[in-house]
Amino acid sequence: MTKRIKSAEYLSDFESIFKCPICDSSMKVFETKSLICTNNHTFDFTKHGYINLTTHPIKTKYSKALFEARRRLIAGDGFFESLSQTIAEIINKHVGVKKGTISLIDMGCGEGSHLSNICDIVSSDYKKTVTGVGIDISKEGILVASKNYTNKIWAVADLANTPFKDKQFDVILNILSPSNYAEFNRLLKADGLVVKVVPQSGYLKELREVIFDEPKKQSYCNVDTVERFNENFQVVDSSRLCYTVTLDKSSIQSLIQMTPLSWATTEKYGQSFSEGDSAQITVDLEILIGKK
Ligand SMILES: C[S@@+](CC[C@H](N)C(=O)[O-])C[C@H]1O[C@@H](n2cnc3c(N)ncnc32)[C@H](O)[C@@H]1O
Ligand SMILES: [Zn+2]
Repeated sequence: MTKRIKSAEYLSDFESIFKCPICDSSMKVFETKSLICTNNHTFDFTKHGYINLTTHPIKTKYSKALFEARRRLIAGDGFFESLSQTIAEIINKHVGVKKGTISLIDMGCGEGSHLSNICDIVSSDYKKTVTGVGIDISKEGILVASKNYTNKIWAVADLANTPFKDKQFDVILNILSPSNYAEFNRLLKADGLVVKVVPQSGYLKELREVIFDEPKKQSYCNVDTVERFNENFQVVDSSRLCYTVTLDKSSIQSLIQMTPLSWATTEKYGQSFSEGDSAQITVDLEILIGKK
């Protein structure tokens, strides 16, 4: 069975969550080939099994190489392993104790490793049945996700205008990505949970110290982001996660490639940072946990 057919069959069990991005009507999987609405707007599954539900082509700055580097670091080097563990625990504590089956959407999922890791932990450690949906506006990210992770729904879509009906998800994940709180509120079930991850002051500080001359660019300030989250959701918990990871030379290269920080740099800076054999890198994140 081809990957396209497998994905179409998998998605057909969940077709009722979709709405047409053009006319808002219900959608169905047609001949394991397309997702089609009642007004015949048709979106084909690609050969890797993802579906593009945007209505016009969108070019983003994120390249396939960036997502592949991100995948090497997350899936290969376990760079965000503690983050996945912590988020899985949060999901179990706030949702899992009440439900055996959990629907999860990652908004701005990139190359999909966070969603895949979190779903794996929630199902293996907490014995829950999890449905994972990952959306990103970047086709390159969704392509890498669908190539590597099966039994998930991967779609190219704008998180500000998603192709899903109201109140379909128990958990919305939003990791180091932009947000649209009106849309998050629309998609979330009445008792659902939003888990947003934002960088904190020490995040990748070793990399930023090398890249930026100006001190103010050397640290993150997320006061506005946290305030906006608090205005939109009832904050039930928050958690600061700070740890260091030792990376070898090739992983440092992946780190430089995986982060949009490197867009601001020059070859020279990138090289000077990666000349050492290994480096300690700080991961400093805040996890915001909200309900409606
Ligand atoms: C820094 S990356 C984080 C990706 C992933 N969550 C991770 O941590 O590896 C930000 C992501 O947000 C996505 N993004 C930006 N604007 C978006 C939008 N309007 N809708 C969906 N995704 C968006 C980008 O394409 C990119 O993959
Ligand atoms: Zn339609």
